[in-house]
Parts: sequence; structure tokens; C-alpha cells
Amino acid sequence: MNAVQPALATLRLIMLGPPGAGKGTQAKILEKRFGAAQISTGDILRRHRSEGTALGKEAQAFMDAGALVPDELIVAMMAVELAGRRSFILDGFPRTVAQAGALDALLERLQLPLTGVVLFEADRETLIRRVSSRWTNPRSGRVYNAESHPPRVAGIDDEDGGPLVQRPDDNPETAAVRLETYEAQTAPLVSYYRSRPAPVASDRTALLVRVDGLQPIAHVTATIVSDLAIAGAA
Ligand code: AP5
Repeated sequence: MNAVQPALATLRLIMLGPPGAGKGTQAKILEKRFGAAQISTGDILRRHRSEGTALGKEAQAFMDAGALVPDELIVAMMAVELAGRRSFILDGFPRTVAQAGALDALLERLQLPLTGVVLFEADRETLIRRVSSRWTNPRSGRVYNAESHPPRVAGIDDEDGGPLVQRPDDNPETAAVRLETYEAQTAPLVSYYRSRPAPVASDRTALLVRVDGLQPIAHVTATIVSDLAIAGAA
């Protein structure tokens, strides 16, 4: 282990990238390794749906169609989720320029500057194949992939032995719409963050780092840790 330890209290990341690029997979790994909480807007919305809340009911049709849930609902939800936190890994937020502006205002008010934006890059064919072969444990959120990371027994979680499910939006048709939504509404965030400088305390120059999402999962993690100069990397 390096002599310098990760600045755990100050890891404040955005995971940016298209559906299936590996944002959630990497956010979970970094959460476990560095202790900053993964905040996944998709997971929070799915929880609202399964609990039948007003937000869940409102979000359902947008999610199933591969469209974005309206900004005002997401921003209000995230203000609650971020309250009282000093470190976090934002997985799936912000997703529009309006959401990014609201996040900037919130973080400025809390005096919590971002420490990095990780942009995942992968080709369309891989992304559609990945989400179409993803299986999830609805109880724990653990994610598998029938091709790249299968459970020991198909359809069964390795750890709790319960059934795995496929998300309603994880089919090739809806995945294609989600990719179009990403290009139209979320990809502009690359320009939004591209010219921002890295935090003063870091060795990097830019806030945004690009990673090749086509590499194996462990390789992607190693690249993020090294490119973000998160100290304490093995
Ligand atoms: P959300 O749940 O956020 O879905 P998404 O952004 O489309 O992202 P995914 O979860 O599909 O992909 P991921 O990049 O996390 O990939 P993963 O790591 O799982 O959002 C769902 C919906 O909620 C949206 O469509 C929208 O309606 C709504 N919503 C959410 N946030 C919103 C917001 N801010 N504003 C408005 N609406 C919002 O990996 C995918 C698969 O690939 C897995 O099976 C995994 O095992 C595998 N895999 C991962 N990495 C690798 C690798 N390196 N090599 C091989 N396989 C890999």
C-alpha cells in the first residue's frame, strides 16, 4: 500500500456515461474500497417504485420508456439524499445540464467541491449487449452479467441464494432509446465539466478523467484509482 492514504472524507465523484458503461459496477467497488457512499439515482427511483411512493409512480412511465424523469423531481430527491454527506459517488446524476447546475448550487452552498468526474466510454453495440444480459439481485442490488460476470447458477444470486431479475428497461429496444436519451440530454455534460480544473490539493490538472469502459472490470477500477490519483491504491 502507498504511504499516502486516500482522502476518504473528500471523495466526491460523479460517474458519467451511457447505460451499461459500468458506472454502477465501479461505484460499488469504490464505495467498498474507499468508503464514500454510492448514490445511484436509478436505484433510488427503483426503490420508490417498489414501495409504491408518489415519486415512484410518477417516475415509472419515464423509466420504462427509456426517458429521463423530470429534473425538478430528481433535484428535489437528490437534495434530500445529499443532506449531511461529506463524501459520495454520484451514479446516474447529474444527467442534464439543469441537474448539473442545481448540483453546483447545492455543493457551493454546502462548500463541498467535486473531486472528480469519471467519464466512461464504450461503443453502442457493447452497451446494448451488456444491459440486455444484466441480471440484478433486487434485494441487495448486486449486479451480474450473463456473459461477462455470470452467477454460479443461472438466475440465482451467489450469496443469498434468491432469484435474480432483469430490469424492465434492460432489453435491446429500450436500451437503444436510453442511448438516444443519453446522447441528447446527458452527453452535453462532457463539455460542461471538461474545462474545469481538478481540486487544488490533487496532482491532476482536469476535474474530468476518461476511462475505457471496454476494459475488464478490475482494469477499469485500477485506471480510475490511478487517473484520479486516489492515494492508497494497491
Ligand atoms: P440507471 O439505473 O441510472 O441506468 P443507466 O444510467 O441507464 O445505467 P445502467 O445502470 O444501465 O448502467 P451502468 O453504467 O451503471 O452499468 P453497470 O455497471 O450496471 O437509470 C435508469 C432510469 O432511471 C433512467 O433511464 C431514467 O429513466 C431514470 N433516471 C435515473 N437517474 C436519472 C436522472 N439523474 N435524471 C432523470 N432520470 C433518471 O454494468 C452494466 C452490465 O455490464 C452489468 O451486467 C455489469 O456486470 C457489466 N459490466 C460492467 N462493467 C463491465 C466491464 N468492464 N466489462 C464487462 N462487463 C461489465
